Amino acid sequence: MTARADETIRVYARAKINLYLHVLNRREDGYHELDSLFVFGDLADVIAVTPARSLNLEIRGPFAGKLSAKDENSVLRAARLLADAVQIRPQTKITLTKNLPIAAGLGGGSADAAAVLRALAELWRISPSAVDLTLLGLGIGSDVPACLLSEPCYVGGIGEQIEPIPALPALPLLLVNPGVELATSSVFRTFGTKFSETARFPEVPTTIPNLISLLQTRHNDLQRPAIEQCSGIAEILHVINETEGCLLARLSGSGATCFGIYENIVEAKQAAVLLKRRGWWAKATMTAKAERPWEDL
Ligand code: C5P
Repeated sequence: MTARADETIRVYARAKINLYLHVLNRREDGYHELDSLFVFGDLADVIAVTPARSLNLEIRGPFAGKLSAKDENSVLRAARLLADAVQIRPQTKITLTKNLPIAAGLGGGSADAAAVLRALAELWRISPSAVDLTLLGLGIGSDVPACLLSEPCYVGGIGEQIEPIPALPALPLLLVNPGVELATSSVFRTFGTKFSETARFPEVPTTIPNLISLLQTRHNDLQRPAIEQCSGIAEILHVINETEGCLLARLSGSGATCFGIYENIVEAKQAAVLLKRRGWWAKATMTAKAERPWEDL
């Protein structure tokens, strides 16, 4: 079966947040093995795909100006890789609505690539057995396998080992970005060799206080090298920590986006107002519960 000419499939590319990120070692090929806990916010870029004469990409939304629709774009790379894998011609228009800051530690390019794989698999009627999206996605970015799931999960290896934790409580979060783009590769380059141990929870915490006390004995190993490259991160973390109701403040991924966890979403929203006044991008969001975002649109 082929797609109808007027058919459009939309998939959310949710923001990913690393609640903790331990770097375990450095492989021969330069990639680092990690132990990380990923959650996904309700904030998202949106991917829409529809049949067209040829493969093309339109980027719109608040952060559209920061990206180019050229060949190296992770969205186009994902589309081409999938088309090659199943040997079809990618006659599709992709629209990316870029709502999230880029090079920000929120999964951006990986989340968009994962969403486009999901959307195209549906539009092109690709059966799940025809192609391993996780393996394909890993070739585009280390966070793509987790973003394909978009549910709370532990991530191991360099990003390919995924263990869902569906029972994790939904969290009220504040996300803050200073407007500085940080390349993941350069943050890893200055990380050094001070490695950490795996730190998975003995049991899944069922309440926010329970989760916070576990997170306090874990950390983000990339926070120090990220601050070395962008001192604004230290200031943001300090300001988030001072806001009312903040239970924990930390960097997400390789930054520069920081997050705060709050007891309730009202406090997170109040904090977002305060941080926006300082000229930073700041949004309050709940983390998405375990669900398949591409199925509820
Ligand atoms: O896979 P991704 O494009 O997100 O990675 C960007 C860069 O970050 C890689 O080229 C690598 O230098 C570094 N990286 C790493 N270990 C990982 C993920 C990324 O060293 N697990």
